[in-house]
Amino acid sequence: MPEVAVITGAGAGIGKSIAAELAQRGYRIVATDLDAATAQQTAAETGGQSRVLDVTDRAAAEALAREVEQSLGSLDVWVCNAGISKMQAFCDVSEEDLRRTISVNLVGVFLCGQAAARSMIRQGGGGRIVNIASMAGKRGNAPYLSDYVASKFAVVGLTQAMACELAPHNIRVNCVCPGYVRTSMQERELYWEAALRNCSREDVVQSYIADTAMRRLETPEDVARAVAFLASEDAGFVTGEALAVNGGAYMD
Ligand SMILES: NC(=O)c1ccc[n+]([C@@H]2O[C@H](COP(=O)([O-])OP(=O)(O)OC[C@H]3O[C@@H](n4cnc5c(N)ncnc54)[C@H](O)[C@@H]3O)[C@@H](O)[C@H]2O)c1
Repeated sequence: MPEVAVITGAGAGIGKSIAAELAQRGYRIVATDLDAATAQQTAAETGGQSRVLDVTDRAAAEALAREVEQSLGSLDVWVCNAGISKMQAFCDVSEEDLRRTISVNLVGVFLCGQAAARSMIRQGGGGRIVNIASMAGKRGNAPYLSDYVASKFAVVGLTQAMACELAPHNIRVNCVCPGYVRTSMQERELYWEAALRNCSREDVVQSYIADTAMRRLETPEDVARAVAFLASEDAGFVTGEALAVNGGAYMD
């Protein structure tokens, strides 16, 4: 039977591309999102199934993993992609905004990782977990994104801790660190950053391109192919890695 891949935040942007890429490589897709309609659309386009999942809901993540395991017969890959951002100066970040960012970007990855790992351990055949961190998880120089930077550095550390603990169960855990990716998240960021820097959105786009050695914006497909690699047997001895996929915008 083809392997099963669950993707969070699969209704749009990077998550939608990951679903398409994994479907093309033969996985059975479970596209999950907060938004039922967009998750359904991704499922329809990938010949897969959809589920509503808020990644901050521990019980829902756990129930979803059990249900997928039972109804589809296995759960082999879980991609923790859902994330949010809001650009504002460090001194203006409210406690509520800080908690919201940490809740989705870090606690969501933690809870979904637990649900996925428990399922993979129950099944006994191992598995792969791929977290979507960010270039901002390696480089604090991401202006107006202090809460986001904090959440994404944490995802890189969490990925290493999970990789160590889960290796004896033959579960590999890695993360991908994208750069400036053209998605609806970036559209919102262009709007905020242009206002904060008092310039045009096109100026901001040009600054992203100038910061990128390969001189173009990143596409969701650029990220999706790296996720597919980490999920594949080609990456069979890769675990705990934070793979930079940013066209050379940040090299470490
Ligand atoms: N766009 C970029 O430049 C960029 C760069 C680096 C990393 N990332 C990361 O990539 C991931 C995807 O980003 P994107 O640009 O595709 O964003 P996006 O806003 O275009 O899409 C995010 C999707 O996640 C869903 N979502 C939001 N909160 C959720 C929740 N609590 N539970 C479940 N689903 C939820 C949304 O409904 C949406 O479908 C995020 O983790 C983001 O931080 C993005």
